Amino acid sequence: MPATVMNTTRNATAAPAVSVTGLRKSYGDKTVLDGIDLHIPAGSIFALLGPNGAGKTTTVQILSTLVSADADSGRVRVAGHDLATDPQAIRAAIGVTGQFSAVDGLITGEENMLLMADLHHLSKKEGRRVAAELLERFDLTDAAKKPASTYSGGMKRRLDIAMTLVGDPRIIFLDEPTTGLDPRSRHTMWGIIRELVRDGVTVLLTTQYLEEADELADRIAVLNNGRIAAEGTAEELKRIVPGGHVRLRFTDPDAYRSAASALQVATRDDEALSLSIPSDGSQRELRAILDRLDAAGIEADELTVHTPDLDDVFFALTDTTGTVPAQTQENAR
Ligand SMILES: Nc1ncnc2c1ncn2[C@@H]1O[C@H](COP(=O)(O)OP(=O)(O)OP(=O)(O)O)[C@@H](O)[C@H]1O
Ligand SMILES: [Mg+2]
Repeated sequence: MPATVMNTTRNATAAPAVSVTGLRKSYGDKTVLDGIDLHIPAGSIFALLGPNGAGKTTTVQILSTLVSADADSGRVRVAGHDLATDPQAIRAAIGVTGQFSAVDGLITGEENMLLMADLHHLSKKEGRRVAAELLERFDLTDAAKKPASTYSGGMKRRLDIAMTLVGDPRIIFLDEPTTGLDPRSRHTMWGIIRELVRDGVTVLLTTQYLEEADELADRIAVLNNGRIAAEGTAEELKRIVPGGHVRLRFTDPDAYRSAASALQVATRDDEALSLSIPSDGSQRELRAILDRLDAAGIEADELTVHTPDLDDVFFALTDTTGTVPAQTQENAR
């Protein structure tokens, strides 16, 4: 990886790497993006989530100048350049890994890399150095001389991303970077993405893996029906959906019954002898539950705290009707 190191600017006050207001895109009479706002601080990781067809790839394609936005669209700035007036400057600053591979199967992995180096006008010597370095980093050195058509899906994906990094872009768009990767390769990819961000690179990624957004992203936006249904940190998003609860399990049916009457708000599962109490998982709420059990002289055999995960958020925000409770949208901002 080229050694340019910028200060890591993981804070919201940094000039945004990507700033989008009122982005609109229709295909025929189908509105795909119905006024999208996005602000991505430099040096951060931003994840775009959303069901199939929500417009994630379309957003990436517009921001990376591959597809044009509608004429009545608002303003898009990437790396400080205006998309409408200076797309060439944007192209020079960014790297894009599309949802579908850009790898040419007929030539070797190394040749694919050297082709990218040529496109970026690197000298032969510099091109070979950068290609070798990236192939090594993506664990492709052994396969470098083999035709890319003989690579596994995961190897192709790694080569795809290595090719994106040849020009040392400061902003990277990754459309589903880890789809099809096994868990180990996925973790390796996460490590690489984190390393890029440590060097000051800004990453916008789309993903179907909520765990990935949770692990990696500083901020997450959920796209649904052409709009941003919610945006925030993973923790903020989880707080807007109900579902957090404390579960108490008992082996003694008498203790279970006493607890059920002491904790009126609990949902009972008489078969499993377990009680479920709505809770935000805070220390204050836990203490209140324990105090009531203590006061009644009851001891549970097991206490577990369940917080909503991003799956809950995804299901709550992207239901099939696409309606999001106004309250939820407000809270997410
Ligand atoms: N070139 C095109 N012509 C017409 N419609 C298109 C075109 N590209 C995308 N669409 C439509 O725009 C919508 C959004 O597609 P897009 O590929 O952006 O979704 P996505 O969120 O990336 O989905 P996925 O999770 O399946 O990758 C879909 O309804 C798709 O059919
Ligand atoms: Mg897509």
